[in-house]
Amino acid sequence: MGAVIIGCGKSTPNLEIENDDLKALVDTNDEWIRTRTGIGSRHISVDETTEALAYAASAAALGMSASKHSDIASISYCAEPIDPESIDLVIFPTITPDSIVPSAAAALKKDMRLQNAIAFDINAACTGFIYGISVAESMMAASNLAAAQNGCKRSKIKRALIVCSERLSRLTDWNERGTCVLFGDGAGAAVLEWRDDEPGIIATYMRNDDDDTNALTCPNNFTAPQPFTKDGIDASASDVDEAADEVDAFFDLVDAIGSSSDRQVIRMDGQAVFKFAGKAMASCVEHVVEQAGLALDDIKLIVPHQANERIIRFAAKRLSMDIEAFQLSIEDTGNTSSSGVPMALTDALAQGKLERGDKVVLVAFGGGLTSGAVLLEI
Ligand code: COA
Repeated sequence: MGAVIIGCGKSTPNLEIENDDLKALVDTNDEWIRTRTGIGSRHISVDETTEALAYAASAAALGMSASKHSDIASISYCAEPIDPESIDLVIFPTITPDSIVPSAAAALKKDMRLQNAIAFDINAACTGFIYGISVAESMMAASNLAAAQNGCKRSKIKRALIVCSERLSRLTDWNERGTCVLFGDGAGAAVLEWRDDEPGIIATYMRNDDDDTNALTCPNNFTAPQPFTKDGIDASASDVDEAADEVDAFFDLVDAIGSSSDRQVIRMDGQAVFKFAGKAMASCVEHVVEQAGLALDDIKLIVPHQANERIIRFAAKRLSMDIEAFQLSIEDTGNTSSSGVPMALTDALAQGKLERGDKVVLVAFGGGLTSGAVLLEI
């Protein structure tokens, strides 16, 4: 018994930006980007929200028509339509939610009429899908198995939707060539079902290494005007409108300066992240395969975070595995953070690369520094 993937979907915003298009913004070129990253183009949201992309990917995973966001391109892998009311849990890993309250998960649940679901977000940066699917599987196992063993009654979770959606373009410094060529927007989703007669998810492995050198960061600068000093309330600062104007003026200035590290954009030490990523990816695959009591030869496909094709090739080499055993979907998406793994998994399934009974490893790394892997049977 276990949590089995019964549907997958992905969606991308309509605007596609080729590598050479970025020459209008920074000093770069197609050849540099392709050889260093494997990226040829990426999709960028102009007016598609994080939630709209999530809606389109989730509808694809549920095998239902996304009439509400039918203008957003999506790919679906789903044997038969899944009743939205049968979803008990929505977990939404994202670093780019449209709002803080409601959570992205709650907004999506309401919009898709997932009437019976509980819903919450998590932030594990690019490892979000791995953490999200691991948490969902734990909740499903606890509610379906442990109740019988220890008597603790939990709400039964039979079906869960894990949906990642990211608008990294909102957090990208489009003047910084070391980062802006890497990122793109998109969403990926998977539906898990607890089944008594199939193994589904066999092993999960999650990890968090300290980012001692701040190799990958993005600040959260928003603060409402504060009428406080160390001595208490400052009545003169209680004119909230005036204080708000000051805050706006400050951020206009920060934006104008452009190089300030206070700006709410992703900052990265590319080489430090590269070194961490290659090792972490290989080590997570080894851990999860060992935990499952299997060997690398038993794995049909590895679906890695799509951050850089060179990182994936580095991990393949470290594991002494053929690159053919890795799903490569980065060429027309770039790095879409947490969405990368479910988008690539949807590609692999839709391309017919996997059959029932095949064993697959999903693996990712990201800011935090998070990393992890999930081993499952299709
Ligand atoms: N176009 C052209 N030249 C560029 C460039 C671009 N977009 N970005 C950087 N360069 C230049 C650099 O300025 C440098 O020039 P110099 O030698 O004259 O100083 C040169 O290319 C090499 O830069 P470097 O940073 O050493 O390149 P790299 O081989 O490390 O590749 C990354 C850079 C970002 C592609 C790579 O480090 C990487 O992918 N890191 C991991 C990033 C990642 O995955 N982040 C997300 C984690 S979830």
